[in-house]
Amino acid sequence: MPTPILPTDLPPLMHQAVEEAVRLLRAGEVVALPTETVYGLAADALNPAAVAKIFEAKERPTFDPLIVHLPDKKHLDTVAEVPEDIQKTLNKLTERFWPGPLTIVLPKKACVPDLVTAGLPTVAVRVSNHGIFKRVVQELGKPIAAPSANRFGSISPTSANAVLAELDGRIPLIVDGGACLHGLESTIIKIEPGTPKALITILRPGPITLEDLKLYGKVQRVTRTVVDEATEAPGQLASHYAPRTPLRLLSRPSDFIPEVGKRYALMSYRGEEKDGYLDLAEWEQVMVLSPGNGKLPEAAVRFFYVLRELDKLGVDEIVAEPMHEHGMGAAMMDKLRRASKKW
Ligand code: TXA
Ligand code: MG
Repeated sequence: MPTPILPTDLPPLMHQAVEEAVRLLRAGEVVALPTETVYGLAADALNPAAVAKIFEAKERPTFDPLIVHLPDKKHLDTVAEVPEDIQKTLNKLTERFWPGPLTIVLPKKACVPDLVTAGLPTVAVRVSNHGIFKRVVQELGKPIAAPSANRFGSISPTSANAVLAELDGRIPLIVDGGACLHGLESTIIKIEPGTPKALITILRPGPITLEDLKLYGKVQRVTRTVVDEATEAPGQLASHYAPRTPLRLLSRPSDFIPEVGKRYALMSYRGEEKDGYLDLAEWEQVMVLSPGNGKLPEAAVRFFYVLRELDKLGVDEIVAEPMHEHGMGAAMMDKLRRASKKW
């Protein structure tokens, strides 16, 4: 059966869509919902049979744990333990960034099914700031497990149509909340005690940047080793976010010599001649992330959309220009490296 998409652009439609989503979640079903980062595939986090349907629809291996979305900050105690020595830092972070795109890894409570956490002793939690998601999770009154609503290893969806392209016929409902505000998945951190400041480790870069977190502790990025991948951010596999088309991330224009007869598409950051990337080849297509002005948040909003569109062309290779590694550039460069499998 094709998956229906419910619109939300008028108040009565929004009401109906929220009611239907809550009804399905209560019945142990999965539903695709918009969040401020990317679309999520939601299920009742405390119902293992419902959570199992997420893994089935996404063809996701069960070693990859899910993020648990809380109705509000007060629900934190129901799913996680907060060690006393990080309590103060955690409070400051949640006061500043919740609801919003910050996911925090904490020791889990027994009520969280092992399937959600892939058997880890920790659980990743966040509170979404999306109007529709908030209404659904608050009406449900329970935590929602929701990974990005794409097939495993594929590009995260930032629109209802992108979810449909990934999961049509596999899930009973998609709620259409329009395009996602940030366009990249939440930042994932863990907090450890430290003097004079707590140690904040970024396990996955995202919309809350290293610069944002600096005010709250000593911040480090997880180093990209196999050991870290397995232990710290188990779902951050090298092959994540990959288009089907091979992708090459350039460091400098001079690194690229096109092969005769091959078709290439360019993912350009600003689309400016003076950067020297536009002249490199007879591009099959050029798509620009931040037309004209080179703003990282604008590029982030368009990032997965552009990747998805370029992937549809059937070219031999997608060539990506590099961008600055500060702010949201860090998250996009991380994803481009993973997609190009260049470490
Ligand atoms: O913005 C987001 O975070 C989106 C929206 C839907 O909320 N969700 C999302 O989920 O990106 P997903 O499944 O695509 O990524 C979840 C990742 C896992 O792959 C893993 O890297 C990390 O979260 N994770 C989950 N539980 C963890 C844990 N206990 N320890 C470390 N990392 C964990
Ligand atoms: Mg994902």
